[in-house]
Amino acid sequence: MTAEFISKLPKAELHLHIEGSLEPELMFELAERNKIKLPYASIEEVRAAYEFDDLQSFLDIYYAGAGVLLQMQDFFDLTWAYITRVQKQNVQHVEIFFDPQTHTDRGVPFRTVITGIHKALLEAEEKYGMTSRLILCFLRHLSEDAALKTLEDALPFRGWITGVGLDSSEVGFPPENFERVFARASAEGFRKVAHAGEEGPPEYIWQALDLLGVSRIDHGVRCLEDQKLVERLVQENMPLTVCPLSNTKLRVFEKMEDHNLKQMLDAGLCVTINSDDPAYFGGYMNENFLAVQKGLQLSQQEIVEIAKNGFRASYLPQEEIESHLQSIDDFVAGEITSS
Ligand code: ADE
Ligand code: ZN
Repeated sequence: MTAEFISKLPKAELHLHIEGSLEPELMFELAERNKIKLPYASIEEVRAAYEFDDLQSFLDIYYAGAGVLLQMQDFFDLTWAYITRVQKQNVQHVEIFFDPQTHTDRGVPFRTVITGIHKALLEAEEKYGMTSRLILCFLRHLSEDAALKTLEDALPFRGWITGVGLDSSEVGFPPENFERVFARASAEGFRKVAHAGEEGPPEYIWQALDLLGVSRIDHGVRCLEDQKLVERLVQENMPLTVCPLSNTKLRVFEKMEDHNLKQMLDAGLCVTINSDDPAYFGGYMNENFLAVQKGLQLSQQEIVEIAKNGFRASYLPQEEIESHLQSIDDFVAGEITSS
């Protein structure tokens, strides 16, 4: 299978932190515009700093980078840069995470953050027909009270937000700490997802399911350590938003050949491929698909099934999901007749 096939295949991205799409070039541009001093002398120096030992070593740099985002226009430019990149990769639907606390804790109003992102998403639909959803993530290294306050801030904008999620440092910050805020979000009609089983144990995935009531697990790669959990995830057809380049960059797996994504597929799990923080991990959707296809020798059929899972696991209405699945089938049929 060729890189061209992967590139042309219609795709949906379900696990993308918008702050993680901040490329060093834009970081420098925004630092200058906002008169912020960066601890790096050049773009090359920033890229050289992107060598990580684990999740925390990445998060330290990621939160520092987000410090250049101040004005509504900055959040628009950030989101628009991501949209234009993935539009060229045939990504047709995106579900985007944002971390409001990273910004509100620096004095940037919630309204500024969400309005900039939302405007870019509207333009993506108008200009490219790209659909989207927005998911607000609570930072799990902060308190549940802080998360509850953030949920309150979000309520005036509920029409722009589809769901809530849970991200940041995982080990030592279990989902059970956020049971109340997820119950509240659920009562307000939000969908629920959570990062679990990226670095944390299978127990965190159980908690995300049983205590938070999530309808997708972000990462979830450690589920294979617990056979009962795998059975549960398969039985419920629970989607897992796997991020292969992120996992190798953060040393969850030492190299792509060691990734357990194929074992997950073989176990019958609903696996999707996503980029997580593409500016930091060396690739957007196509690069993630290609790296894992090559590393694990995935067949064309497996790649197509994973792309379909992206739409099936999305929060699009069923008829739009069906229409995307049909366009994947049409694309594959066209490739067969033309080859
Ligand atoms: N925030 C941004 N990327 C993340 C990841 N991979 N895990 C947890 N929190 C994150
Ligand atoms: Zn993530």
